[in-house]
Amino acid sequence: MTLTAEPIVATSTSSALAGQIDATNAEPSPGSVMNSNEIPANADPRIVAWVEEMAILTTPDRVVWIDGSRAEQDELLRVMVSTGTVTQLNPEHRPYSFLARSSPDDVARVESRTFICSATESDAGPTNNWADPAQMRETLNGLFDGAMRGRTMYVVPFSMGPLGSPLSRYGVQVTDSPYVVVSMGIMTRMGSAVYQHITPNSEWVPAAHTVGAPLDPGEVDVAWPCNTTKYISHFPETREIWSFGSAYGGNAILAKKAFALRIASVIARDEGWLAEHMLLLKVTNPRGRAFHVAAAFPSACGKTNFAMLRPTIPGWNVETIGDDIAWLAPGSDGKLRAINPEAGFFGVAPGTGVATNATAVATIWGNTVFTNVALRDDGDVWWEGLTQSPPDHLVDWTGQDWTPASGRPAAHPNSRFTVAAAQCPSISDDWDDPRGVVIDAIIFGGRRATNVPLVAEARDWEHGVFLGATISSERTAAAEGTVGELRRDPFAMLPFCGYNMADHWAHWLKVGGSLRATGGVPRIFQVNWFRKGEDGRYLWPGFGDNGRVLAWILDRVEGRAPAVASPLGWLPAPGAIDLEGASVSESDWEQLFAIDPAAHLAEADDAERFFDSFGERVPDAVRGQLEQLRSRMTAL
Ligand code: GTP
Ligand code: SPV
Ligand code: MN
Repeated sequence: MTLTAEPIVATSTSSALAGQIDATNAEPSPGSVMNSNEIPANADPRIVAWVEEMAILTTPDRVVWIDGSRAEQDELLRVMVSTGTVTQLNPEHRPYSFLARSSPDDVARVESRTFICSATESDAGPTNNWADPAQMRETLNGLFDGAMRGRTMYVVPFSMGPLGSPLSRYGVQVTDSPYVVVSMGIMTRMGSAVYQHITPNSEWVPAAHTVGAPLDPGEVDVAWPCNTTKYISHFPETREIWSFGSAYGGNAILAKKAFALRIASVIARDEGWLAEHMLLLKVTNPRGRAFHVAAAFPSACGKTNFAMLRPTIPGWNVETIGDDIAWLAPGSDGKLRAINPEAGFFGVAPGTGVATNATAVATIWGNTVFTNVALRDDGDVWWEGLTQSPPDHLVDWTGQDWTPASGRPAAHPNSRFTVAAAQCPSISDDWDDPRGVVIDAIIFGGRRATNVPLVAEARDWEHGVFLGATISSERTAAAEGTVGELRRDPFAMLPFCGYNMADHWAHWLKVGGSLRATGGVPRIFQVNWFRKGEDGRYLWPGFGDNGRVLAWILDRVEGRAPAVASPLGWLPAPGAIDLEGASVSESDWEQLFAIDPAAHLAEADDAERFFDSFGERVPDAVRGQLEQLRSRMTAL
């Protein structure tokens, strides 16, 4: 691909274009960028101008302003069925549901191709790929030049958060992927109603996306157009997103990780709130008191499952608010309030079954888009873990015949379902409260075979920030890389923080300080469902039994659960977690909390090396916590 140095903003021609686009009654001329449906009357002129610029740059055959209607969604799906992008599932088993099979080289987020293009490299920090914004603009300009030729550019207005909530933010994505439009329609509040909230002085985020696969006249399209060259680029200062070459998940559904985390984290830093990779849930205890909990676990480490938990411990009830992203802001009442900015779930399919997450299984009864799962002979879907034993025959995620003897997974490990949150049977009445819910407890977790106990409570906010800053987790299939490899994933935000991670820790300390002043500071906990015994077996049954841990956490918040001090924070006192009916042996229970000082001291050295990579920007309070950990471990 040759790169040109032309500016992305094609100012010389855009005014002429504006004149023509305004004449929406004029006959559209086929093959011209002027070929657009009616521009919504209340679309902010800045949006119209930007769409014109994008159309000039990418030269689509047509521009379609998306209104969010059902008829429009039907039409998009009809088009995708005809091009083979999706297959309709048997409506008797799965009404209004579709299966997409991606290109085998477009199956997960590409972290190595994800860039934070801040003005200075140090503002991106050592954990992000930084690129010079001017250079990146030049590169993208070359790549986007003509990239939508032969395709339709869809203009997708969306709200992150309930329309009109003071916590909500708005954006517009242009994309040439109907699959992305349909996904955005499920994952966000998408449609024309958004335009009335983008007024001349309000901020909105432009998100430019192309699959990067222009079509020549007469060329037959492939089922999943994409490009081997990929760029997922963020411009934090100008709050822009540009994504090229992928149609998969977080690479392409730009409202999600690109906007609601990378760009939103920067807005949040500047405005005094937090945009985090967290699920949100509501818990009611046996005495009828309700709590709200936010929990950060890295990708494919159990957020969706925890958000839809069916506790095995009697008397406790869990309702879902969000499963992936939370925006948290100190409210006028001095408490930490949170919304789920999304409107749907893009959940990991494998491992989702009646035994593990019956709520998710019930949620996806219909109106669901599946990507890279296997197809059953009866026209329904299947993946590893949906049922105990697989069907005798399937078509696997690559479109090939599959039997249990095939020796390979039928569904891709990062195959997913896309479904509206409103369809979740455990969705809470609070889930779209525009004021957000008051957070009582924050949980950090990861996938750790060793060292990290089943649960611990931070001594205070600073210790909690240290626990967040030192999360490490075994890699999963949610992004490219070697599955199982241990890596640091502070706050589960490693791939999602739009600025220097050490500044993110400082920001957390600051937010905690202001919450402490108003008496609204939540308690912080750490959990690990994934500790293994020497035989490689999980020591903790997980899933519904995680409710037992949640019960202890909220009993702590209520001041009624006993705990013992340890170098890792407060651990449950013997008997404080109800294990009645859980199959956990006494020796497994001991191993779940075993502390090996040498292993922790080695981990502290690793944390120090990690901190050193940020240099001076690591807050003293975080470094101080590391020293405290060391001296407590040495004293054991
Ligand atoms: P992203 O959508 O990538 O952010 O993932 P997530 O954090 O929402 O993870 P999810 O809940 O989809 O779970 C990922 C995988 O972990 C699935 O295969 C689950 O079956 C498995 N898992 C979730 N909770 C538990 C648990 O408590 N114990 C065990 N052993 N596995 C779990
Ligand atoms: C994750 O990887 O954390 C996801 C999936 O939630 S994606 O939307 O692709 O980022
Ligand atoms: Mn996620």
